[in-house]
Amino acid sequence: MSFNLETIRRDTPGTQSVIHLNNAGSALMPSAVHSAVLEHLDLELKIGGYEAHARAMPAFERTYDAIAELINSDRSEIALVENATAGWMMAFHGLNLKKGDVILTAEAEYASNVITYLQAAKNKGVKIEVVPSDASGQLDVNALEQCISDKVKLISISHIPTNGGLINPSAEIGKVARKHGIPYLLDACQSVGQIPVDVEEIGCDMLSATGRKYLRGPRGTGFLYVRKSFMDQLEPPFLDLHSATWTGKDSYEMRADARRFENWEFNIANVIGLGAAVDYLLNIGIETASNRLRKLAASARERLSALPDVTVHDIGLEKGGMVTFSHATYDALAIKKHLANSSINVSTSSIVSTRYDMERRNLGTIVRASFHYYNSEEELDKFISEVAAL
Ligand SMILES: Cc1ncc(COP(=O)(O)O)c(C=O)c1O
Repeated sequence: MSFNLETIRRDTPGTQSVIHLNNAGSALMPSAVHSAVLEHLDLELKIGGYEAHARAMPAFERTYDAIAELINSDRSEIALVENATAGWMMAFHGLNLKKGDVILTAEAEYASNVITYLQAAKNKGVKIEVVPSDASGQLDVNALEQCISDKVKLISISHIPTNGGLINPSAEIGKVARKHGIPYLLDACQSVGQIPVDVEEIGCDMLSATGRKYLRGPRGTGFLYVRKSFMDQLEPPFLDLHSATWTGKDSYEMRADARRFENWEFNIANVIGLGAAVDYLLNIGIETASNRLRKLAASARERLSALPDVTVHDIGLEKGGMVTFSHATYDALAIKKHLANSSINVSTSSIVSTRYDMERRNLGTIVRASFHYYNSEEELDKFISEVAAL
């Protein structure tokens, strides 16, 4: 499909009522996603939940294929879960790290991941090392190489952090991980759907992502990718009768594919909705979608930087669709409220979501405006003029 903004905005009813710049929070769904979810709920209403699932099996299974196509994996490497965190936790806890093992992470790491490292440090005695950033603000790949030792048992980073435009050099990090045979877990929660993500190019062993953000899927959806050749190095922390089969009185057998990281019960309607969302994106093309949203964000950064009293905070060599800034007089929450009065949705990022990075840069709470390909140039103009009017 060629990119037709008018059609895309018509497909996105939310664009009629709000200027949605909170896509890093939860994006506006296309109508096709909404209909797919509602149609399945209607079917459940009419014929029963299990019966509806059986009838909708092709649509349900399509979700695996659509995700696999988007990230260049095999469908057998995808587990569907309820959010990015659930997938990430399955991978992390599946590694079963031991006392003295070192985790290498980045300065822009997400709070939930760091809290989990800290828990593993407390309960198991693993060590956390934060790889410094380079002058641009991205993870310093040379410094990463220097941190490698035989104690390092995991490289785990956020591809795009929750608090800004930074895109970490995931493929360069992958090269270091491959060279030293170290497991590589990529938190791609913000990047899948925002920029091209190709697991072969990146070389990660595990990758987690969510449905509601840049993929424009329903809330409560997500997935975990686990490389086929890495699958047996992870022990799923939980097993049930979906992820494994009770084969004898004293035996069980795990599934061979990544569905060993799932459990039996699903929100079928939402899974089908996620499949519809990924198909919608595949139809547009991730390169086209990403180029457009990054162009809008780049323009927003340039125009915000030109305003007196506004400071833009995005770092990194490569920047994505998230734009962060602060104002000399008004705090982030006041700005969010001011914009909400004009039906402009933005979010804020504070120290508790990315403490290493915010402390290092001495940042308080900042405004986060996250662009999607369906945002229009007129919406960008309105946003800039409302910030200028503060
Ligand atoms: C970088 C990053 N990782 C993980 C998450 C958690 O995602 P979820 O809420 O889908 O579990 C977020 C959510 O904002 C995020 O920004």
